[in-house]
Amino acid sequence: MHKVSVIGAGNVGATAAYYLVAKNFAEVVMMDVVQGMPQGKALDFLHASPSRGYDVKIIGTNDYAAIADSDVVVHTAGIVRKPGMDRMDLLRTNVGIAKIAAGNIVKYAPKAVVIVVSNPLEVIAMVMARATGFPRERVVGMAGILDSTRFCFFVAEKLGVLPSDVSALVLGGHGDSMVPASKYTTVAGFPLEELLSDEEIKQLCDRTRKGGAEIINYLKTGSAFYAPAASAAEMVEAVLKDKKRVAPVSALLQGEYGYRDLYLGVPVLLGAGGVEQIYELPLSEDETAALDKSVEAGKKGLADLAEIEAS
Ligand code: LAC
Repeated sequence: MHKVSVIGAGNVGATAAYYLVAKNFAEVVMMDVVQGMPQGKALDFLHASPSRGYDVKIIGTNDYAAIADSDVVVHTAGIVRKPGMDRMDLLRTNVGIAKIAAGNIVKYAPKAVVIVVSNPLEVIAMVMARATGFPRERVVGMAGILDSTRFCFFVAEKLGVLPSDVSALVLGGHGDSMVPASKYTTVAGFPLEELLSDEEIKQLCDRTRKGGAEIINYLKTGSAFYAPAASAAEMVEAVLKDKKRVAPVSALLQGEYGYRDLYLGVPVLLGAGGVEQIYELPLSEDETAALDKSVEAGKKGLADLAEIEAS
């Protein structure tokens, strides 16, 4: 039986754990430092098992030792920004949490593929890669699938078609500078560019970029978690079942697309080895310029990380 551990049992972590439990193919461990929370949520999952029909082993724990020998670890732990909290303070805390998690992953699950979900995504993924020392194939960030499913939904809503018939690709960083690649977006094979005007596509791209913010505006005190958790669970399944899925993820680039030593959303082959291949798609001039901007935003995040580590 495969084993997956989810670090952080907050909204994203617990929802991802629940989706994985419901898929009924792997033992699921939920680990959080908050006493009682992962235990309570795990028990709640177990209470639902007679109704929902799953029978995998489910553990909620405050002890990192329980993640031992996991095939995949999903890192969702981190605090959310509270009113009055400085951005750098938030970053410092979440970097610290990621480093502790990394140390424990190395100790207990040294062969795991690590899927990073915590924000700021590209920075936390880099911290995880450096602190575990794992090869880049085994430390991968979740963003592109989420951003692409949002784009799929907006396209489908606009055209009045089934969202799962839309295949979309969003590249770049997970933030305002992400790059929805309309050239690589199709509806049951029809190029999007033949179905909608440039202006309409531009509006959908814009809404995709602000997809996370739109939800924060509604929720006020929190951010999205159902769709982020669903995307993380898809990635776990692709790895555990060695699905060879082609999907955008945040991967550590070493020369691909002309960039080096930073995490960026690009299409990859996702299988048992993690990121088994990075695909370099030809991009238009506009897309290349947009990707450059995304990289600039990513470099700013790494500069903040360097500042924190120097202080
Ligand atoms: C989002 C944030 C939470 O995209 O990353 O919803």
